[in-house]
Amino acid sequence: MRRPVSSPVAVVAAVVAAACTLAACAERPTEPARTRAPGAASASVASGGVMTSAENAVATAAIVRQLAASRGIVPLRRPAPVRPALVALGRALLFDPILSGNRDIACATCHLPGFSTGDGRSLSIGQGGSGFGPSRLHPAGTLIPRNAPPMFALGAMKHLFWDGRVQLGPDGRVQTPAGAQVTAEMQRTFEFGPISALGMFPVTSRAEMRAGRENEVGMVADTDLRGIWAALMRRLGAIPQYRAMFEAAYPGTRFDQMTFAHASNAIGGFIVDKLTFTNTPWDRFLAGDDRALTTAQLDGAQTFLSLKCSVCHDGATFSDDQFHNVAVAQIGPGEGNGDGGRDDFGRMNVTGLAADRYRFRTTPLRNVELTAPYGHDGAVTSLRAFVAHYSQSDLKLQSFDGASLDAGLRGSLLATASRILATRDTLLNGVVFGDDVVNKLMAYMSALTDDAARNLSSLTPERVPSGLRVPRP
Ligand code: HEC
Ligand code: HEC
Repeated sequence: MRRPVSSPVAVVAAVVAAACTLAACAERPTEPARTRAPGAASASVASGGVMTSAENAVATAAIVRQLAASRGIVPLRRPAPVRPALVALGRALLFDPILSGNRDIACATCHLPGFSTGDGRSLSIGQGGSGFGPSRLHPAGTLIPRNAPPMFALGAMKHLFWDGRVQLGPDGRVQTPAGAQVTAEMQRTFEFGPISALGMFPVTSRAEMRAGRENEVGMVADTDLRGIWAALMRRLGAIPQYRAMFEAAYPGTRFDQMTFAHASNAIGGFIVDKLTFTNTPWDRFLAGDDRALTTAQLDGAQTFLSLKCSVCHDGATFSDDQFHNVAVAQIGPGEGNGDGGRDDFGRMNVTGLAADRYRFRTTPLRNVELTAPYGHDGAVTSLRAFVAHYSQSDLKLQSFDGASLDAGLRGSLLATASRILATRDTLLNGVVFGDDVVNKLMAYMSALTDDAARNLSSLTPERVPSGLRVPRP
């Protein structure tokens, strides 16, 4: 462990130097920003003379754009428009509890517009619960092992779920835990890549939506996914409005020829069309508007790009779409791994590779200030704490006590810090920074919010075709 350094200049310089022992740094430009004191004039970039603050801002903007390009951080493009009838169908399905075995929980129960398409909880509560968001309760206290992520910009992601188990294969097909039960015909139905396939899975999970044998969807054997999907299509087909909506969404195909892939693809279409936000201050800045970022945000951008953050958080979504262990504590019921089954081995559950233990997909960061709590299990309740976690993350993990979590979750904290640290991503070795750097990074995080994402209430429909209760906190 590197000795904590107190001078912010030394800290940034040390971290940057460490980052550049990485092979990838070789072809990265060694811009003057690397060695300048944070907050000091970025001076001497263009001339030896004294620069006005306006000239400074222009010079810093140029440096930041160059850094972003060299880190592979690119603008997020607006996806091509999705046909309105498909979006309308996807919207209805996302909000309709009809997709759950006991008709008591919709996708949107855990992906609420009022909570930025998450649920504001560390861990979700599945079927059988009542209420919404942080106040949702379950008499038996059943928790879903992972945090419900937001649904922003997911059309741009190749790996979905925290462990990437729904992913784009090398042949352009979507790979899922269902293997060949997702037929070639279903594959052809997926128009938007992995996000089109994702909706096939929450409906199969007894804990999330399907419930027990008391309903006809729950009666199907766990391994018979096609049977589960067919049972749901029978339910939907019994509602004339759904038949009409499906046939409008897929002109030329009769409802009776459709599979649940058509439903899932429509949900994907809705997510791509309505939840891809491309107008953040950062996007406007990348498009050439020097005044889109505040001075603090611009300074924060330079810090984010100069630190190792952007080695993993890159691309259009701020995710490399890869898997890393960044030393997040384990809470909750777990994914059935380890002693007692309360651990979560993350990506290893998909690949079987020991090297993937405790690795999770790099989280996209768009609108991140709106999507608390953080981490695969929501163990970190504030964005500031997650950002600060990266400084001496080994010590942070060892001393993590879940103080900000409610008592039940705090009690479920696993004492696995040393095992997690054994495979922590080496990029985090020796990373040390102070509060001033946290402040800068927080300013940058605030530049990744699209104002249009702040209030999503217009996404919730008044009613859904089943007539069941629409989730609305
Ligand atoms: C009980 C709460 C719950 C319900 C109901 C639910 N989800 Fe989720 N959702 C989650 C959790 C928890 C995860 C993370 C699971 C994981 O990664 O293993 C998740 C993950 C996702 C993701 C992946 C996001 C990403 O960043 O990779 C998408 C998309 C999604 N859900 C859409 C849906 C859709 C569509 C439905 C309905 C068919 C649905 N969810 C129903 C809780 C829920
Ligand atoms: C080694 C790759 C890597 C580096 C370097 C890295 N991150 Fe991450 N980041 C991840 C992964 C992986 C996760 C999800 C971890 C988990 O849930 O267990 C994550 C999660 C996050 C989250 C939580 C997002 C959410 O919605 O849960 C934030 C915020 C974040 N990172 C910001 C940063 C900042 C700021 C830096 C630089 C100080 C940084 N990251 C450096 C890989 C990385």
